[in-house]
Amino acid sequence: MKNTVVIGAQFGDEGKAKITDLLAQKADFITRFQGGSNAGHTVVVDGKKYAFHLIPSGILYDNKICMIGAGCVIKPDDLYNEIENIISLGVSKEHFKKCLKISPLAHITMKYHTDIDGYSENALKENKIGTTKKGIGPTYSDKYARSGIRVEDLFDLDTLNKKLDIILNKKNKELEFVYNLKPYTKEEIIEECKHYKNILEPYVDFNWQENLSCIKENKSVLFEGAQGIMLDIDYGTYPFVTSSSPTSGGAAIGASMGALTIERAVGVFKAYMTRVGEGAFITELTDKTGEKLRQIGGEFGVTTGRARRCGWFDAISARYAVLVGGLSEVALTKLDVLDTFEEIKVAIAYKNKLTGEITKNYPTNVFTHQNFEPVYEVHKGWNCDISKCKSYDELPQNAKSYLKRLEELLGIRITIISVGADREQTIFAE
Ligand code: GDP
Ligand code: IMO
Ligand code: MG
Repeated sequence: MKNTVVIGAQFGDEGKAKITDLLAQKADFITRFQGGSNAGHTVVVDGKKYAFHLIPSGILYDNKICMIGAGCVIKPDDLYNEIENIISLGVSKEHFKKCLKISPLAHITMKYHTDIDGYSENALKENKIGTTKKGIGPTYSDKYARSGIRVEDLFDLDTLNKKLDIILNKKNKELEFVYNLKPYTKEEIIEECKHYKNILEPYVDFNWQENLSCIKENKSVLFEGAQGIMLDIDYGTYPFVTSSSPTSGGAAIGASMGALTIERAVGVFKAYMTRVGEGAFITELTDKTGEKLRQIGGEFGVTTGRARRCGWFDAISARYAVLVGGLSEVALTKLDVLDTFEEIKVAIAYKNKLTGEITKNYPTNVFTHQNFEPVYEVHKGWNCDISKCKSYDELPQNAKSYLKRLEELLGIRITIISVGADREQTIFAE
């Protein structure tokens, strides 16, 4: 298989994990390249459901190496719980020891990061971002402010001591005087770091440079993104975004293998759209149709349990995602969720309600989004169960027309069609 990156192309939760698990069959090495345990990824194999947050979705195979890459942020207690949960579902501890690797360059989410995330969200009140409160923003902020703690620091007490002498004083001032939160002593932080070291030690790959060189030469690589392009720190609905880059560009940085390693970029889109958390969503449906999508699609968050906002497929944001995400093809998921809809709508333009102007460009200033309404194209539904279709030819004509139109609107091919949560419920249209 060509080295492939799998990226969410909407607001997250597109079914990336299902697609990653599927493509992982043909890969040797699977690596997450950004995000942290804000992600909630579901893989269903033979009816059994697995939830991942940080662990790459290829972990269920026997003989694949799965890496949490340098671009990720790790909350070790969350990772511990995640591993224990998967072990309770029948995957052995030895399997994790053999197959799971962690980059020493990934950043650690400390307790003070989650404290700050929780506080900031509450303080923002009606202007909150609706984060997962997993400390993601504060951890990435410290990374870019050059005052973060990396996995490798946990294994070198001298370095950790030196770093803490530089950063803790400032961090405590921030905690006390900006956020009115409890400061930490150096001893408390050292204890926290020792605990984290014990959790991560079996998996940290200190020989990553040699190992990744070998993998680049001889193996096929699958890069797994979290979140989605419309949550990207640069290109998403800023500031209602996450703090990393879930694009093919992000993979080029966060997986330690460079841009030229990527040969194929699969953007995962739902056949409709969802969003969890705050921020603009031009095709959102707050009526019975939205509720129907939520119920049939089971649209409730894996990480926070929050109900997802639902709406029609937005071809304007999708085309924008193809551009800025560097996508070469599409995996379309949850087509089966539309089985009982008489009419299926797709936004093909936006109308500016103030000026009457029609645009096909995505307005990047989200504070103007209330001025736009979608211009819809209406498609006839297919009114039958497609969840058992095994080939493109078996799909009803109206479903084929819908797919064909989406391809036209996006300008790239839909090569994977998902008609159910299970690994087997997939059609390859290549
Ligand atoms: P991710 O974060 O992009 O990996 O997606 P999530 O796991 O958060 O949410 C996707 C949900 O849809 C999960 O419950 C999946 O099991 C489910 N799912 C994935 N593909 C399909 C599909 O084609 N049809 C249906 N009905 N469910 C799907
Ligand atoms: P997966 O990988 C959906 C959203 C949050 C919030 C914003 C910022 O499962 O698709 P953060 O905690 O990252 O600072 O929150 O991003 N968000 C997600 N929404 N799926 C995700 O991950 C998400 N990860 C973050 O709801 O709006
Ligand atoms: Mg998810």
